[in-house]
Amino acid sequence: MRTKIVAGNWKMNKSFEEADELIYEILDLLEEKGKPDDVDVILCPPFIYLELAGDITEDSSVFVGAQNVSQFESGAYTGEISAPMLRSMHVDFAIIGHSERRKYFRETEAELLAKVQTALKHDIAPIFCCGEQLEEREAGKHFKVVQKQLEQTIFKLEAEDFARVIIAYEPVWAIGTGVNATSGQAQEMHFFIRDLIWKKYGAETAADTTILYGGSCNSKNAGELFSMPDVDGGLIGGASLNAEEFVNIILAAKE
Ligand code: PGA
Repeated sequence: MRTKIVAGNWKMNKSFEEADELIYEILDLLEEKGKPDDVDVILCPPFIYLELAGDITEDSSVFVGAQNVSQFESGAYTGEISAPMLRSMHVDFAIIGHSERRKYFRETEAELLAKVQTALKHDIAPIFCCGEQLEEREAGKHFKVVQKQLEQTIFKLEAEDFARVIIAYEPVWAIGTGVNATSGQAQEMHFFIRDLIWKKYGAETAADTTILYGGSCNSKNAGELFSMPDVDGGLIGGASLNAEEFVNIILAAKE
């Protein structure tokens, strides 16, 4: 059976002190309110706070993930962070293919596949993002767009590797806009993705793949979104920067 996950993508936010405070606040609130056993929590702060996050969460059940990873393993790539480096810091997950990286850093599907492969090779589970732009949805092309994103990347993996990937469906028009996909829109796309997985990798893999929703998810809409049968939790941006809000989203993912 697949795991429910709520992951916080902090993006490029928070000072060191603020990061420290936020992580402690999240842990305290989880302890106070009771972290649901059936929901995995992943914090994805900026790279330079990964060590801090790893240290603070060491004795908790909270995981730490990176927001990106290089497609290269080592060498002369100024400014990059590799999967072996992340692994050596006990980082278990990495967000790959976020729409902001596709847009502002022009990451291509070929690069994204290389990143996924490098991450997997070093035992880091990719949280692979996909999702359509507003114009693509308005033109009725959203299913095709997402299918293509998957076919050019993670669907090229062998079954054994694919089984370690977490998918995040994040419609670009919903990210940071305050306009979330409706639970119906999310369910429809998540079902479509699961059906594609079923056709490519079989029923068991399809049933076991965690598919997160991301895009203006908050403590008010999380309950409804997560109640959809194919929505297995969320990748949370803005709302993950506030401990109370983030923990309430985690609680909403509970069965
Ligand atoms: P948002 O971002 O929750 O702020 O819309 C989600 C994401 O980009 O992962």
